[in-house]
Amino acid sequence: MRVLVTGGAGFIGSNFVLRVAATRPHWQITVLDALTYAGDRANLEPVAGHIDFVEGNVASAEVVDRLVAATDMVVHFAAESHNDNSLSDPWPFVESNIIGTYRLLESVRRHGKRLHHTSTDEVYGDLDLDDPQRFTEATALNPSSPYSASKGAADLLVRAWVRSFGVRATVSNCSNNYGPFQHVEKFIPRQITNVLWGIRPKLYGQGRNVRDWIHVDDHNDAVVAIVEQGRMGETYLIGADGERDNRQIVSMILQLMGKPDDWFELVGDRPGHDLRYAIDSSKLRAETDWRPRYDDMRAGLRTTIDWYAVNEPWWHDAKLASERAYARIGR
Ligand code: NAD
Ligand code: TYD
Repeated sequence: MRVLVTGGAGFIGSNFVLRVAATRPHWQITVLDALTYAGDRANLEPVAGHIDFVEGNVASAEVVDRLVAATDMVVHFAAESHNDNSLSDPWPFVESNIIGTYRLLESVRRHGKRLHHTSTDEVYGDLDLDDPQRFTEATALNPSSPYSASKGAADLLVRAWVRSFGVRATVSNCSNNYGPFQHVEKFIPRQITNVLWGIRPKLYGQGRNVRDWIHVDDHNDAVVAIVEQGRMGETYLIGADGERDNRQIVSMILQLMGKPDDWFELVGDRPGHDLRYAIDSSKLRAETDWRPRYDDMRAGLRTTIDWYAVNEPWWHDAKLASERAYARIGR
């Protein structure tokens, strides 16, 4: 089977390609990636001889159409993915996330190909801290930021192309990922690399916002399960019951890295900061054999910390650039 992976040089996409290259050797993989600040071709070095790589933009009709015509299935990860950036400059989010998904949909429609679209739980907005409900596939979309609005818009385009044009597509909405190769602008790698550089972790507001953490390998295994076992046209929520507030995460990082528990700094809050995300993944678990394997977040964090500790050349320059950007917004 020929598989086109968009965004395969980014955090989740490169972990996906490395994983399926080992577990699905019969898949012939082509990666399409624009190599933005968040994409690094070196992530794919271990499988360089086994995959094709095309540098290009998912919002470009021509490159997308040529590659979709030559594949059997598209797994779509390419996106601008960071909330804070979407508040500073929303346009790349509209272009990559909405127009990019539109281009893919038109191509898979034209050529009769299968699409899996990866999205986020952030499209559902946020929950109160004490709300017993979690997000399900029936929860109404209610995004807060330009990032989550652009992902929600893309999800709705996919649903419309399924219903109106009979496109063969599935959608997954996953909670917050952690693991190796995550850009240092994101919460967990930012704090790990801060500690490695002797800087205190920085918590937005009071640090009480809750995210539902999942290891990137568990996310990617769920994507494979949906591609192979999911029902066409359906949406699946992916989550591993990993709710923790940001202080708890920082506390674990500090403990694992040998620092005192109060060695952090509270900084200004993110405008519109979503309070809590929480996923009910019953549908995915009922309809596929997927189960999360990383049930010990402390162990998952320990290996993630080790990865950042030995791979400083991978993140050094990105860290400098990302901290300059944070300094400009006072966080
Ligand atoms: P990332 O920012 O690490 O990687 C995105 C990749 O897409 C990069 O390689 C970048 O070069 C590429 N890209 C960006 N715009 C492009 C364009 N116009 N054309 C081609 N390539 C382009 O993001 P990530 O964290 O790996 O997220 C991947 C996908 O998973 C996104 O769709 C994101 O919304 C979704 N998601 C992420 C999380 C998370 O916690 N990170 C959770 C749920 C869903
Ligand atoms: P982030 O990794 O940006 O993911 P998202 O906003 O998409 O959930 O942030 C995760 C949480 O961590 C979120 O509540 C914002 C918070 N945060 C901090 O407290 N400090 C930081 O330096 C960053 C980057 C995020």
